[in-house]
Amino acid sequence: MCGIFAYLNYQVPRTRREILEILLKGLHRLEYRGYDSAGVGIDGGNGKDWESNAKSIHLIKQRGKVKALDEEINKQQDMDLDVEFDVHVGIAHTRWATHGVPSPVNSHPHRSDKTNEFIVIHNGIITNYKDLRKFLESKGYEFESETDTETIAKLVKYMFDNRESDDISFATLVERVTQQLEGAFALVFKSVHYPGEAVGTRRGSPLLMGVRSDHKLSSDHIPVLYRSTAKDKKGCSAIPRMDQDTCLFPVDQKAVEYYFASDASAVIEHTNRVIFLEDDDVAAVMEGRLSIHRIKRTAGDYPARAIQTLQMELQQIMKGNYSSFMQKEIFEQPESVVNTMRGRINFNDNTVILGGLKDHIKEIQRCRRLILIACGTSYHAGVATRQVLEELTELPVMVELASDFLDRNTPVFRDDVCFFISQSGETADSLMALRYCKERGALTVGVTNTVGSSISRETDCGVHINAGPEIGVASTKAYTSQFVALIMFALLMCDDRISMQPRRREIIQGLRVLPDLIKEVLSLDDEIQKLAEELYQQKSVLIMGRGYHYATCLEGALKIKEITYMHSEGILAGELKHGPLALVDKLMPVIMIIMRDHTYTKCQNALQQIVARQGRPIVICDKDDYETAKCSSRTIKVPHCVDCLQGVLSVIPLQLLSFHLAVLRGFDVDCPRNLAKSVTVE
Ligand code: F6R
Repeated sequence: MCGIFAYLNYQVPRTRREILEILLKGLHRLEYRGYDSAGVGIDGGNGKDWESNAKSIHLIKQRGKVKALDEEINKQQDMDLDVEFDVHVGIAHTRWATHGVPSPVNSHPHRSDKTNEFIVIHNGIITNYKDLRKFLESKGYEFESETDTETIAKLVKYMFDNRESDDISFATLVERVTQQLEGAFALVFKSVHYPGEAVGTRRGSPLLMGVRSDHKLSSDHIPVLYRSTAKDKKGCSAIPRMDQDTCLFPVDQKAVEYYFASDASAVIEHTNRVIFLEDDDVAAVMEGRLSIHRIKRTAGDYPARAIQTLQMELQQIMKGNYSSFMQKEIFEQPESVVNTMRGRINFNDNTVILGGLKDHIKEIQRCRRLILIACGTSYHAGVATRQVLEELTELPVMVELASDFLDRNTPVFRDDVCFFISQSGETADSLMALRYCKERGALTVGVTNTVGSSISRETDCGVHINAGPEIGVASTKAYTSQFVALIMFALLMCDDRISMQPRRREIIQGLRVLPDLIKEVLSLDDEIQKLAEELYQQKSVLIMGRGYHYATCLEGALKIKEITYMHSEGILAGELKHGPLALVDKLMPVIMIIMRDHTYTKCQNALQQIVARQGRPIVICDKDDYETAKCSSRTIKVPHCVDCLQGVLSVIPLQLLSFHLAVLRGFDVDCPRNLAKSVTVE
């Protein structure tokens, strides 16, 4: 949901061409977050002195993907690409439209005025932008776009024009702006009034900084500077001075590069040293030195930010030999589920250890109810594992869509344990639901794929699913890893229950062979491609199943609709005769999931009901189920495994099918229209 990227080189000479390449590459990495339009803001001068070059700002914006922006940049006549900058700040943005249609004027960076005194990039939504706009219009500011973001650009200029002292810092200005904003944001500012400086801040939307230097960092932490309430001589709130104790690098060793980014994939090829900013941090780079400011210290606020070392490899965010990230991620599943289990399950003595839960597991075992809260695919992972969670924990388990959970003001109690399942860890609905549950005293548990994400930081404890970066907008490997992580949690919950041991052993041994069984399912790819060739011109596909496979139906249908734009519906087979059967005729494609578990006989009944209406079902079934094969027009045979894990296997043919359908229909698999990977607005 919009990608922010900024690059600042300080005493590291770079040509304009190099700077633009770095900015565009950063945007390419973030493109999955939004691809309606993109833009960059760089210094405009073509002279030899960087400081005079920074006295004007050049904006280039284009509708469409980053490639279109790249083409637009190449058309610019007045830019000398070989001019070198010792110091430079460039900011860049890829947009997923919320306010205003995709167009150059609605694209970011947004500007304060026609001369581009201040420019800003934004991810999130400003909910009070109408009031701010009205106020600024009353002061004579003229707006050019329909966006909420433009109010921020105008507001910073208003604050600057009405400053009480000439030496007000850029950080102070930004801090004043953010005090007026409501909603969610991650922002990076650049200005002709502050050459070589950049300021970034966040509230509710993710923002991290990367740091690169050949010099040793002076510390692995950077202290937070709290603004004193006292005024200085000129009447400004005093911002503590930056000196050697408060800055990241020793004063005499300054050649350094900084990056601001919405997520780590955009910086990893430059540096693995990052700082995850907290809500309301104002991070300012001035004279090559970084400082982090906050207005005041609040309870629980740690007065420093750690410089963390990312474990991610560049390789992980490259497509390799695959045609799309989604395809790569589908085929990564044998390894990604191993990574989810790595170091956590001992297959010899059937024990499970989840380090992130160890201090809270006793409390969780005593709880009254488990509530799994998520959106989209992550919600389906909750639906998929609910039954085994109920079985192994013997607790009531609710599975909730975060938006609906909040709309209903669902009662939550102190003895509830609330799980927040989220690949990105940044989904606004899930994050709001997390805060809602925390306020009501429930214990909160994160199940995320993103270390350092808001959900992983704000929950009391949690499990990282360790599936590796997921770039394809349609979630695949995160789903199977969330599934496995929740199963591991269920196993942990009953590890001292003697009566549960045979079932625990059966599931743990099922997990041991799961990666090989996933490989076997992936070998059906050619067969599934052929099926896609038969189906790709259809308008609609129904997917039916029950029990453990209801979630597979929902997830398969979601995959098909989001990347192929075909209508698809996941139907609980038990509900067939209560309505959906009316849709069935000899033309309607129906996919059924029938596995040898406790629902087998009932699924056979549903199959007969479809066949009796001249339906020609395509059935995903156990590979030795000849009975089912007899009544099906086509079968996709998957290996058998323990019932509660079978859903990991049954979903993969549907992931592959949606992928092939989208390719055959000529759509961009990784960038489905109207969607974005990380939905940071409610
Ligand atoms: C579908 C998909 C979305 C996400 C949903 C929640 O393929 O990816 O439905 O699952 O937006 O996102 P996270 O898991 O990041 O909270």
